[in-house]
Amino acid sequence: MTAATTIWRATVLTLFPDMFPGPLGMSLAGRALASGLWALEARDIRDSATDRHRSVDDTPAGGGPGMVLRADVLAAAIDAAEGTSDRTRDRPLLLMSPRGRPLSQARVKELAAGPGPLLVCGRFEGVDQRVIEARNLEEVSIGDYVLSGGEIAAMALIDACVRLLPGVMGKAESGAEESFSQGLLEYPQYTRPQTFQGMPIPDILLSGDHARVAAWRRAEAEALTQARRPDLWAARPDPTRTKNTTKG
Ligand code: ADE
Repeated sequence: MTAATTIWRATVLTLFPDMFPGPLGMSLAGRALASGLWALEARDIRDSATDRHRSVDDTPAGGGPGMVLRADVLAAAIDAAEGTSDRTRDRPLLLMSPRGRPLSQARVKELAAGPGPLLVCGRFEGVDQRVIEARNLEEVSIGDYVLSGGEIAAMALIDACVRLLPGVMGKAESGAEESFSQGLLEYPQYTRPQTFQGMPIPDILLSGDHARVAAWRRAEAEALTQARRPDLWAARPDPTRTKNTTKG
């Protein structure tokens, strides 16, 4: 296989393809995109509409507000995207949705390690349930709040994956990622000036004692995680941890 056929690719099905690459065209992801470390394909769901009005949605069966994305149109859009993909059948098919399973760094890692997902961006009140079942779409949420569509959620997911792709991040940035992977929030960071509005940088960080710095950071990360994310703390992989009380 040549490099061109193995490149990690995100395919986005959306009613607003012009939103892409958007922020994914900038900074780390954007530079990696420009240098061919990954590929992005935004496809207009409306191109799969069959009637002369190019309609993609209709009123919900049983009544209620809003509009629902049609199963036939979305299925056709998915099939068309799959048909043109170079590595088709093993791609994860995701539907960005607030009722999905919460996205985790573990799932991001899996997605980054694969060929790259196809992401369906919902709009309106939702998507006809039958296409979710017929194409076995994995519903993914990026948090317990409701966006006006799946596009920003898809961008967040893609960004989280892209930074893990080989060659995208420098060594320094990879280290930070690893820390979160251990189930802890990041420790606090400081840089110049040495004193800001009367607040000095903690002495220990200027001590040059790498072991003490590492222990301090670890303790800070544990204290933050306990205070802010008891769910993460309880689910930590290391059961031999000791209770942390260094904060405050
Ligand atoms: N679409 C609307 N809200 C969403 C959310 N929280 N996560 C993923 N997709 C969404």
